[in-house]
Amino acid sequence: MKNISKKLLCVLLCFCVIIGGAAFSASAEGEATDKVTRVSCTFNGDSKTSRGFCWYTDNWSDSDVQIVKAAEFTGSFDTATTYSGTEEMFRNKFCHKVTVSDLSAGTEYKYRVGDAANNLWSEVGTFKTDDGDNQFSFITIADVQASSYENFAQAACVLKGAIQVLPDSEFTVNLGDFVNDNTNEEWDNYFANFAFSNMNTTFAPVAGNHDGNITNKLNIGVFDSMFNLSNANTDSSTNWVNGVYYSFDYGNAHFAVLNTNDMYPMTQSQRNWLINDMKQSDADWKFVFMHRAAYAEGKNINKPDTIIMRDVLLPLFDELDIDMVYAGHDHCYYRSQQVKGDAVVSNVTYVTENYKGEEVTFAVNPEGTVHILPSTAGTKRYTVHDGIDPITECCAFRMSTRDMGGCFLTTEIDNDKLIVKSYLVDDDTKEITQIDQYAIKKDIGTAKAEESDLKTGTVENAGSFITNFVNAFVNMLKSYIAVLLPQAIRNAFVTR
Ligand SMILES: [Fe+2]
Repeated sequence: MKNISKKLLCVLLCFCVIIGGAAFSASAEGEATDKVTRVSCTFNGDSKTSRGFCWYTDNWSDSDVQIVKAAEFTGSFDTATTYSGTEEMFRNKFCHKVTVSDLSAGTEYKYRVGDAANNLWSEVGTFKTDDGDNQFSFITIADVQASSYENFAQAACVLKGAIQVLPDSEFTVNLGDFVNDNTNEEWDNYFANFAFSNMNTTFAPVAGNHDGNITNKLNIGVFDSMFNLSNANTDSSTNWVNGVYYSFDYGNAHFAVLNTNDMYPMTQSQRNWLINDMKQSDADWKFVFMHRAAYAEGKNINKPDTIIMRDVLLPLFDELDIDMVYAGHDHCYYRSQQVKGDAVVSNVTYVTENYKGEEVTFAVNPEGTVHILPSTAGTKRYTVHDGIDPITECCAFRMSTRDMGGCFLTTEIDNDKLIVKSYLVDDDTKEITQIDQYAIKKDIGTAKAEESDLKTGTVENAGSFITNFVNAFVNMLKSYIAVLLPQAIRNAFVTR
């Protein structure tokens, strides 16, 4: 009996050694041989004091971040503060998240993520907290949506070009569709090629329809598991399914990041959140980042999901005085005029003046919103065609970048001025050309936070996920019948 027990113990010990070794094998020098991958540093709470970190390992390990002020960093993390978080298995890998919320404003930090007990660490990354002043700039790209390592690398060249043009950028926005088929391999390739940015600035990711949601081959919960974001959707039954919506302040601007996967129709809870979120902000500049575009002229603009979304969102943008909406999904460049009530604002005054050595034309205190779709940083590009009324007549500038290159935006806020510039990176030569520019100048310091009629927590919620989905399906059918059927009949008669 004792022999059997000993044998069992030996077998158990061997099993533990094998599993433990596989989970955390160490080299002769005591270095862990597992690798830290998919590292990102995102907005998560107060931009002056908080950040969210997310990364992956193939095997189980603890979740630690070590952070030290860049001014005190000598190449060692001996004096760093260590923060711990959570880990969970997701699609056969381990997802780690740590949130840090006691940082100093306007400070550059060095950090590494991993497992302190087992000396498993990432490369050294860096980020800077918001100093709260009203001068800052940021980079925006959209729709990398690659499958192969080579195509991710080509899209990464576009972001490298953006950093070359705007080296002082304080954060980067990606408007969604990071990947195409949402496989582990694609996400590995995305993070491997974009580590130079995701590890070295603060990142604001937007959920795209290819990034994991109920309509994409049931690849649910992926976006929520790739980044550590402060999810404003507090409904625990649905908040991990389709993506994440959240907001942050930076300088004198407020940014709402929508989840347009959550719009069949856009859930009442997200609508109410957007209204509350924007009304409670007294920021001078108000931005919305979202994946599906309300104004665009690629192939997606005529689809029912987009038409439903336009009906829901455009009145809100008017009511909430949103200055700029940046969106993706339609893979060709589009910039609207100032629009309000789904029509061009007719009485905009422009002034041209010298700004930092350049002649810049500013719209002065304009009414309405400008929508910009920065084509795509990736290689899948659509041709431009006339969209649904009145999108074509609301267009100020549009362009297909097919067979040309990838695009990026630079946005500069300087107190009362906003300047957005659009660039193209040539596929072959990597030459960077500016293709568009728009600027606004307005009286600032007058915006007031309002008490919204809608209170978070007491608002009407769209209910359960199943109810949302059924409503969405019914509305999609209605839209197909109401919008596409008349179009099809008309086209049938017109073409004959
Ligand atoms: Fe998309």
